[in-house]
Amino acid sequence: MNARAEVFEVGPRDGLQNEKAMIPTDAKVEMVNQLSACGFRRIEVASFVSPKWVPQMADSADVLAQIDRVTGCSYAALTPNMRGFDGAVAAKADEIAIFASASEGFSQANINCSIEESIQRFEDVIAAAKQADIPVRGYISCVTDCPYDGPTAPARVAEVAAKLNALGCYEISLGDTIGQGTPKTISAMLNAVLSEVPVQKLAGHYHDTANLALDNIRASLDLGVRVFDASVGGLGGCPYAPGASGNVASEAVVALLHNAGFETGVDLAALEQVATFAKTLRS
Ligand code: HMG
Ligand code: MG
Repeated sequence: MNARAEVFEVGPRDGLQNEKAMIPTDAKVEMVNQLSACGFRRIEVASFVSPKWVPQMADSADVLAQIDRVTGCSYAALTPNMRGFDGAVAAKADEIAIFASASEGFSQANINCSIEESIQRFEDVIAAAKQADIPVRGYISCVTDCPYDGPTAPARVAEVAAKLNALGCYEISLGDTIGQGTPKTISAMLNAVLSEVPVQKLAGHYHDTANLALDNIRASLDLGVRVFDASVGGLGGCPYAPGASGNVASEAVVALLHNAGFETGVDLAALEQVATFAKTLRS
């Protein structure tokens, strides 16, 4: 049997959050249902953030209420604070994600607080999630480069990763938010993080601005990472990261993993059809 690797589909959240024109809830639900049928085990479908900050995600509770849930698939939501956590629980998200940054500039621009303040907020969210038996994933943004502060020191990423790990995140997703990482800088960052967190708890979350995301995934595979976030059709970007383009396309990552001899459980032909549909949702 082939070794396993996983693609964590983030298109309905990271892919759509940056779209200016409001996408109807029905279309988001259709996209999630099509993705569920492809065989993903985790799909990020919602974000309980301030609708003033990210208007596109304002219907997250409706999306979670209307999707057809496939047994064995976990439907995830971003939660920046307790208000977001309460929304995610009410909407029956299967897991939540907190999101920190390795750079102060992006932390301020994205969630309006310092890294340290964000970690304090997450302590409350994680404690509540533990009580409710809801798994928590942790994101770290700007792991190699920040649009405000320039290059990020690998030691800084390792420090934030160690904190999220100690808080109890079951997995830490390392975000090249503006897609400026290279195999060299991604490997240096991973080597630093690996001194604090075991590889089984890491995921790569690479945006594809410079067309290097697939090379960065290959470099990460060499270091033992087996989970990669991706967005169907390569949709996406972050409204608070100027210049960031979409996540690496899920169909390209699944193809890369299959060609490298990994099993993903994802039906690539079906996924390519979803990519065609997802691209029609772009403004
Ligand atoms: P703030 O203005 O500092 O907070 O925002 P606040 O507590 O003063 O709240 C401001 C307003 O938002 C208030 O409403 C609150 O009630 C409301 P008002 O009184 O003005 O009418 N509010 C909320 N509403 C709904 N849900 C909530 C919530 N919290 C407060 N949970 C805050 C702080 C964190 C809320 C804000 O900065 C925010 O929502 N930021 C989210 C930004 C975001 O979603 N960015 C994209 C996701 S991160 C990303 O894409 C990177 C990632 O993909 C990894 C990578 O690529 O690197 C994950
Ligand atoms: Mg992202």
